[in-house]
Amino acid sequence: MRNHERLILGIESSCDETAAAVVADGTKILSNVVASQIKIHQKYGGVVPELASREHLRQIVPIVREAIEQANVTLNELDAIAVTSGPGLVGALLVGITYGKALSLSLGKPLIAVNHLEGHIHAVLLEAAAASRHPQFPAVCLIVSGGHTVLYSVSSVGSNGSGRLSYSRIGGTRDDAAGEAYDKVARMLALGYPGGPIIDRLAAFGDTNAVRFAEPKTRGNPFDFSFSGIKTAVLYHLKRNPQLQSEIAQREQAIARGERSPDALRSISTQATLDLIASFQRSVVGSLLARTLSAAEHCGVRSILVSGGVAANSELRRRFETEAPPHGFDVYFPSRALSTDNAAMIAAAGDARFLAGECADVTLNAEPNLKLA
Ligand code: KG4
Ligand code: ZN
Repeated sequence: MRNHERLILGIESSCDETAAAVVADGTKILSNVVASQIKIHQKYGGVVPELASREHLRQIVPIVREAIEQANVTLNELDAIAVTSGPGLVGALLVGITYGKALSLSLGKPLIAVNHLEGHIHAVLLEAAAASRHPQFPAVCLIVSGGHTVLYSVSSVGSNGSGRLSYSRIGGTRDDAAGEAYDKVARMLALGYPGGPIIDRLAAFGDTNAVRFAEPKTRGNPFDFSFSGIKTAVLYHLKRNPQLQSEIAQREQAIARGERSPDALRSISTQATLDLIASFQRSVVGSLLARTLSAAEHCGVRSILVSGGVAANSELRRRFETEAPPHGFDVYFPSRALSTDNAAMIAAAGDARFLAGECADVTLNAEPNLKLA
């Protein structure tokens, strides 16, 4: 029995991870269970929505049970159930929402609707608070994942220390998300799915200056991003260099045999390919860094938060951590485990909404295009 702690169960099923977590007082992770569907979607080179919903259905009950058991709490001790209501895949979202609603009704506990993007922001805040680090608000936040690349100005509006935040969009991608560009380029080069982690590892062996990519043009809003141009530029580079095709075919075969480790793929990649990978990553990271720093300068903030799957990237972290402080900014990242989709971040965001008295009811529905406000 746990005394005097607010216990929030978080449930996340917006894309290809079925996740559940219990967080105490908005900052202490008692459990954080993630069932990834990567193996199921890998052979299609991307997330297949129907398969994702079916797998969430299979996983949701055991994953929530595991989160409760690992946290060493009972369902009756929970104060509320927080569930991702959007944005995401409608069928996938519905599995978590329906299960969250059923738990909330049967236990007589409040249901909290959480925006997945707000969850990513709370992933940073949760760990910063646990380490007694406190970003200054307003802050600028870059959310960079497979589905999103967006910059927000984040303000604190919580009275009584609720931690409730408000958001104003500063800019975002006009086409592909950065993670999507990683995944598509990895697909062209036959590096497997998802592309981010493998490109991250292989880029370390290439020359970042070997291939020059043009700076994307985003006329109108200087804080917008564009990543479809670089994807096309990689495609043209491959067309101009047909000698790279044979190693692509070899990697395809290796992946089909299940040999997808960085070492295995590196051993069948020429220096020219490693240079292309390193140059691609440098360009994407450079664009993310430059626009985020200029947004932070424009908004006159002190703190920068970076979250989402691509925030796990080594070069992105290194460059933000070395290049932001000289401009007077503090940078906050989640750990790698909390950068990608998880439910601890949903529970933490739910805790702030719970304290602010914002509860949902049985009419809660999936909102695939939910905006952050
Ligand atoms: O946040 P997330 O788990 O799911 C979405 O909300 O999209 O992000 C997944 C994305 C994928 O595109 C994946 O390739 C990318 O994050 N990613 C990375 C790294 N780890 C995951 N991209 C670059 N470097 C990484 N280390
Ligand atoms: Zn996400």
